[in-house]
Amino acid sequence: MGDGSRATYDLGVNRIAVIMALTAEAAPVIAELGATPVASTSPLPIQFFEATRSGCHIVVSVNGQHPRHGVCSIGTDAASLNTYVTIDRFKPDLVISAGTAGAWARNGSQIGDVYVSDDRFVFHDRRIALDSFSEYGVGSYPAAKARRLAEALGLKTGVVTTSNSLDENDDDRAMIARSHACVKDMEAAAVAYVGEMMDTPVIALKAITDLVDHETPTAEQFTANLALASRLVGEKLLAVIDFCAARSLADLA
Ligand code: ADE
Repeated sequence: MGDGSRATYDLGVNRIAVIMALTAEAAPVIAELGATPVASTSPLPIQFFEATRSGCHIVVSVNGQHPRHGVCSIGTDAASLNTYVTIDRFKPDLVISAGTAGAWARNGSQIGDVYVSDDRFVFHDRRIALDSFSEYGVGSYPAAKARRLAEALGLKTGVVTTSNSLDENDDDRAMIARSHACVKDMEAAAVAYVGEMMDTPVIALKAITDLVDHETPTAEQFTANLALASRLVGEKLLAVIDFCAARSLADLA
């Protein structure tokens, strides 16, 4: 760690920030934690909720409602801003990009599976066919090693791929095939981009609402399964927090 003010891989995880996009995704875990609202000091619509659990300081930071569109601020812009403001203010030892995601039946995924990120976060909609910029587009931001955590909690693991679209087109499909990603969301790579810049480890915890390669439209599956997946990601978040508390990041690996 550059300035020594945050955790290193040798120190314990005492402060965890959970970055979430939809109010509906965040509601179950906020309720279970008994987390209370913290006043915002920025002009952004981010909503912070604080709690203590297993001796850890937890902040759940929700992107908040877009003031003009009147919907939750999903996608990468809001995720980056939320992550920056949250790390800057709360100095977490670990950031968790949490929420819902899509996955593929061809990989054996099922609705309600909960995944922990593995290896790296990538983008699948940033195609920049200029010298050296292709890799910049994909990103490949590091995911903090968490296989032991996943194994202990019975969670699946995989590379998480991000774009600003709920569906996938043929170009997305080609990039996803190249990255071998098995979880598809709209925030995690943006969170990890900021985490890398700010020297703060990031993992994702994502509950599956839809199978991208199923004949039922993604939006229809998502709507039908949002409540179930939000409850499941909330349950697993509590287990992740309990596992991380009083452990070092190396213990998660
Ligand atoms: N969130 C939930 N399902 C998703 C999908 N299929 N793509 C992107 N984000 C999602």
